[in-house]
This record gives sequence, C-alpha cells and structure tokens, in this order.
Amino acid sequence: METTLIILKPDAVQRGLMGRVLSRFEEKGLQVVGAKLMLIRPELAAKHYADHQGKPFYDGLVKFMTSSPVMVLALRGVGAIAVARKMMGATFGSKAEAGTIRGDFGVSNSFNLIHGSDSPEAAEKELGLFFSDGELLSYDRVIDSWVYDLSGGDPE
Ligand code: RTP
Ligand code: MG
Repeated sequence: METTLIILKPDAVQRGLMGRVLSRFEEKGLQVVGAKLMLIRPELAAKHYADHQGKPFYDGLVKFMTSSPVMVLALRGVGAIAVARKMMGATFGSKAEAGTIRGDFGVSNSFNLIHGSDSPEAAEKELGLFFSDGELLSYDRVIDSWVYDLSGGDPE
C-alpha cells in the first residue's frame, strides 16, 4: 500500500470542485486517510516546491498556492501515487486528456486544480510537510474485500 499527498489547489476550492474531485478518488477505491482545509504559508510553499525554485513560473506558483485555502488529502491504495497522477492528467489544463481531472475541469496551464506526489520519495517528504503523525489515520474499510482481491493475502 502507498500513501500519496494530494492538494486541491485554490482554484478547485474557489470553484466549488472539492466534492467532485474527492468523489473521483473515492469512487476509484482510494482510501482517505488524511484531510484538511488550510491556508498554505509562503514558507511551506517554498519547501513543497523547492525543486522548482529559480524557474520562471516559481514566483507565480507560490503566489497562487498561498492566495486562498486549499484542501490537502492523504490517499492510500495499491499504487496510489501513480493511480492518482494518472487520474489528474497532464500538468497543463489545455493539454490534459478528457476524462482526467485537469482535462475535464480546467483549461488554464497555471491554475491546474490539483497537485499529486510524483514519486514515493516525494510522497514521504510532502506527507511530512502537510500532516503531523496523528493526523494520518489507519483504519479498516469494510469495502476493501470488494475493492481488492484479498484471496492471496495481499491486496490485488
Ligand atoms: P504538481 O507538482 O502541482 O502536482 O504539478 P506537476 O507535477 O504536474 O507539474 P510540475 O512540473 O511539478 O509543476 C508544478 C506546478 O507549477 C506550475 N507550472 N507552471 N507555466 C509553466 O510553464 C508551468 N510549469 C509548471 C503548475 O501549476 C504545476 O502544477
Ligand atoms: Mg510536480
């Protein structure tokens, strides 16, 4: 099982899309193990997007991400990092495939609705930045034996 860090960006919150986007992840079978609404401070945005420091879009990106509340989610599932990235679609709304979150809900390249961790290393770092230990909850779901084939022991 993997856990990934998802951010529903300020445009998703302001446009009233939180529920619809979260529903997609729930319908897919990913388990919500952490969730909160928060305002990202510039210092946290800088840590989160440290890899992009110095790029032409960096200042605008930090300004956008700190401009209004976001919803942060921790989603767990088999292959959750790649599964969520695929559901998000390509970075730019104008290029993202129909059927993906960015492809269906936006056309902007900067206001692209959602962030998702892009690797296990990034997920670990980002979960640590946005959630304290007690905020991530491990709990059994009664539907898991229908979401996954558990007959072999491990979820498949
Ligand atoms: P994210 O980190 O937000 O999940 O997005 P991503 O992996 O698909 O894209 P990434 O390359 O990590 O870029 C981070 C965010 O910066 C903005 N961006 N703008 N104008 C540009 O050329 C440009 N490139 C990136 C986007 O908001 C992107 O999500
Ligand atoms: Mg990225």
